[in-house]
Amino acid sequence: MSEDVSLKSMPKIKFPNHFLWGAATSAEQCEGRGQTGKGLTKWDLHFQSDPNQFFEKVGPEITSDFARRYVQDIALWAQIGIKAVRLSFSWARLFPDDQKPSQSAVKFYHDVLDELAEHKIKALMTLSHFDLPAWAVQVGGWSNSKVRAAFLNYASLIFREYDAKTEAFATFCEPIVETICGYMGQKCHWPLAENYQLAFNVGNGLILLHAQTVSLFKSRPRHAKIGVVLNLSPVYPRRRDHAGDRKAARAYETLHNRWMLEGMVAGKIGQPIRKLFAKLGARLELTSQNLQTIAQVKCDYLGVNYYFPTRVREPVRAKSKSGLSTLFETWKKPSARYNKSRGWEIYPRGIYRVMMRISREFPGLPFYISENGMGVANENLFRDKSGKIADFYRIDFLKSHLVWIQKALAQGAPCFGFTLWSIFDCWSWLNAYKNRYGLIEIDLPTQTRRLKQSAFWYQKIIKEGGFDV
Ligand code: BG6
Repeated sequence: MSEDVSLKSMPKIKFPNHFLWGAATSAEQCEGRGQTGKGLTKWDLHFQSDPNQFFEKVGPEITSDFARRYVQDIALWAQIGIKAVRLSFSWARLFPDDQKPSQSAVKFYHDVLDELAEHKIKALMTLSHFDLPAWAVQVGGWSNSKVRAAFLNYASLIFREYDAKTEAFATFCEPIVETICGYMGQKCHWPLAENYQLAFNVGNGLILLHAQTVSLFKSRPRHAKIGVVLNLSPVYPRRRDHAGDRKAARAYETLHNRWMLEGMVAGKIGQPIRKLFAKLGARLELTSQNLQTIAQVKCDYLGVNYYFPTRVREPVRAKSKSGLSTLFETWKKPSARYNKSRGWEIYPRGIYRVMMRISREFPGLPFYISENGMGVANENLFRDKSGKIADFYRIDFLKSHLVWIQKALAQGAPCFGFTLWSIFDCWSWLNAYKNRYGLIEIDLPTQTRRLKQSAFWYQKIIKEGGFDV
């Protein structure tokens, strides 16, 4: 029986009563500079140095202007009925010059959290979502122990100020993305480097800092939970019976999934990742004391971001300029479905694979789907007669993933919620506002908000705790 047939024959999809329905965004992607005197981030540096790399030369200055419009925005989110929202704090806002915290910024986040509480929306707060302050990235980012010490100071302030108003903290969002995109030749995150030793140090620096932050949090009386948000993608070799493709898939899996999963959840830097970096000429520079700290980490929960599966094959050329491209090559399966705006494969079953994997490898660890969604260009083309964006493609996308989430739940996966990406249209790394992900449309010139069809659909699901397929 094909996947489609089995899904069609399914009855109403029901979720547990306590399931946390929500949506997400992040500080750099929605706040804008606002009025609290925010410091520069790595995105400001990047934009100042080469605005042409950003879609229509739109930088991070204003974005969705949430810093000034949060009261109305949160009221609109409440109208949809979301029970939780996943946001992030901005380090550069709370510490504009890295010396002392900005009191107006401290107040700003209190005000946002109070506003959420007023509407009974739980706050799931990330400490760092790709927005390292500019000064920190200029001194080697997460590989530098001074940056890590300053981050712990920033984390202490957050825990002291906001623990009572927060449901769950996440140390980092998608740490592997910052590492690979910034330091392994992908050239989409500042400092656009290709330096494998630095990459290994940055990734391991993040793992160490995550463990230190979790332990700092747990050393004090606390209300919230703490964990991390990882992007996980099931990896498929192009040909299952081809040793070269399987080896390439293992290398991809080690680098993209296993490194952070083992480091941040299991508390170890395993042999596979050490060997992979050894092939790239990099060695482990952590001390045995660092490794002990990492080994003690204990997350209360895990956030899982899932967008697409990854298909991998043996590299066609064994030798190339980049060491990384000798380990694997990704490829696009011609018969697969794609989101043409973003180029990502649409494979709802992948979310189930990831959920079952987490349940198997970390039995009893609660997790939630912290991001999943669809970014589409030119949504203007999909307006209905009333002018509302009728984004049925997004509804189909979300529905098909929720069906597989429910299947994993039915098989015992301890998944407690879903915060789709994103609550409203937000700015994206390099793509700026090209692809829109929101349940709520933002008209940028006027900054007006309008619910899309998907917002009404989501409202109904939340109310009814499920939907018909
Ligand atoms: C996730 C990130 O990986 O993907 C978000 O956590 C991001 O910050 C989202 O916006 C969608 O990706 P993109 O590149 O299309 O914005």
